[in-house]
Amino acid sequence: MSDQQRYTDPEIAAVWRAIRERRDMRHFVPTPLADGALERLVEAAHLGPSVGYMQPWRFIRISDLALRRRMHQMVCAEQAKTAETLSSRREEFLKLKVEGILDCAEVLVVALMPNRERHVFGRRTMPHMDLMSVGCAIQNMWLAARAEGIGLGWVSFFEPQALAELLAMPEGAEPVAILCIGHVPAFYPRPMLEDIGWGQRLGMDEVLFDNGWPAGDRSTPTAY
Ligand SMILES: Cc1cc2nc3c(=O)[nH]c(=O)nc-3n(C[C@H](O)[C@H](O)[C@H](O)COP(=O)(O)O)c2cc1C
Repeated sequence: MSDQQRYTDPEIAAVWRAIRERRDMRHFVPTPLADGALERLVEAAHLGPSVGYMQPWRFIRISDLALRRRMHQMVCAEQAKTAETLSSRREEFLKLKVEGILDCAEVLVVALMPNRERHVFGRRTMPHMDLMSVGCAIQNMWLAARAEGIGLGWVSFFEPQALAELLAMPEGAEPVAILCIGHVPAFYPRPMLEDIGWGQRLGMDEVLFDNGWPAGDRSTPTAY
């Protein structure tokens, strides 16, 4: 019976609480994580689903301050380049805080493993399912971190090839995320980009369709 499989109401509420209160964090306090916390978060990620069970994720812990500084410079440079491509919202974008690399307790680089072409299970027509799998792993980590009161910020402003070289990655490996992890002054009550007026959550009717794509869909984003 499905009721026997169901979690208890407080357990369900806890899962929903983590989902609702998970935030992308960019403000951190320097307090170190307790022993074992980082390993638990990586374990949460490693328990994630993956196409063909390929487990394409690899995690590199960055404890070297000089490396962190180089990565921070890379992210700032990429943010500036991104700003050049924006027209009306350039100034607003440049004021955004998009990372906490120098402030957080721990930095992880998440990479796709090399030789992924050998895995065809579920990827013949959609090879990017490996990337989707890494996204699932990071989401697991994000939720586990929130439940433990630890903030996580996902940073994607970087040139993958340059970061791969900096971290001596083998041919074919591809960095896809820099994760800033650590204690935070407070979790933002809403997505930071919502709070500052950059965007807002779409309505359910804008993302959930019946039996095909609706005619006259209004959700096409405007350029900025
Ligand atoms: C794949 C991915 C890449 C992201 N890259 C960045 C980033 O480089 N910098 C940043 O500040 N936020 C980044 N974010 C966080 C989003 O801005 C954030 O998830 C979104 O604004 C919604 O806020 P919330 O996560 O607090 O709900 C990224 C999120 C995802 C899923």
